[in-house]
Amino acid sequence: MIDILQRAHYNARVYCFENAIFMLAPNEFSERRYLMTQTALQSGAYLHHVAFESENPLHLAEFYAAAMQMDVIFETKDEVRCEGSSRRMIILSGENKKLAYAGFACWSIDAFQGLRQRVQTEGIELAASPSPYFETGAFSLRDPDGNLVCFGLARPEKRQLSGLHGPTQHLTLATHDIQKMIDFYQVKLGFQLVGRVLQSDGALVTAFMTSNHEHHTLACFKSERQGVDHHSYEVGEWNLIRDWCDHFSSLGIEIFWGPGRHGPGNNLFAFIKDPDDNWIEISAELELIFERDVINWP
Ligand SMILES: [Fe+2]
Repeated sequence: MIDILQRAHYNARVYCFENAIFMLAPNEFSERRYLMTQTALQSGAYLHHVAFESENPLHLAEFYAAAMQMDVIFETKDEVRCEGSSRRMIILSGENKKLAYAGFACWSIDAFQGLRQRVQTEGIELAASPSPYFETGAFSLRDPDGNLVCFGLARPEKRQLSGLHGPTQHLTLATHDIQKMIDFYQVKLGFQLVGRVLQSDGALVTAFMTSNHEHHTLACFKSERQGVDHHSYEVGEWNLIRDWCDHFSSLGIEIFWGPGRHGPGNNLFAFIKDPDDNWIEISAELELIFERDVINWP
């Protein structure tokens, strides 16, 4: 297989079949042997975890442990990891309110290898993933804004289900240039663009993209700054928005936006802030999508 890949790199015949690309090396054509690349959408990638920098990692971790019902399971001076049921937060020593990396897990090893093949075919520079939550072989890349994004296969979760339901679900990025981010995430990586928010003058201010059946696993907002806008936990249904809000109230944590319902994605939401001013969304009933055109929102 590796031999095919090397030859294909120099002299490939590329055929498009729906969204998949089959790379056929000339000598292999008659044998119908192929390598298949897969888009991020085909890989079924989901946001498995996020890693933030902080000037005070332990202080931030204590907040996530209490507010997001996680446990501090690893602690050094420069790195703290928090885990809850299907949610994980890594905090590295550094600058407040800065993304260290995001970890997207692929659905299967075939999906992972196909996505890696696509990334290489697109000429995107790869590096090893720094994430402790992925199996060996995971890779990372930088988007046009320099955000570090990792793709891999998740290590098996050892934690028993406990606490309120709320898996890590999506990440949103603030950016100066949304079209540049679309060109990278949609065109190169193969995320599906599902929605855009356009101002009355036609200016693009938001893009929603997905790597699986969820309305968005990644969104980009036009902003004066670059980096994370917010990250979100999908709790499933309205009663759990209530329960999470009751939980925040019991801790004296202000709900600064919501509860309400978004237009794009049609999800219910409530927002809180962590001590570093990172925005955290609790979401429910996020739209599930299948084949459909991009929707433009006012
Ligand atoms: Fe969100």
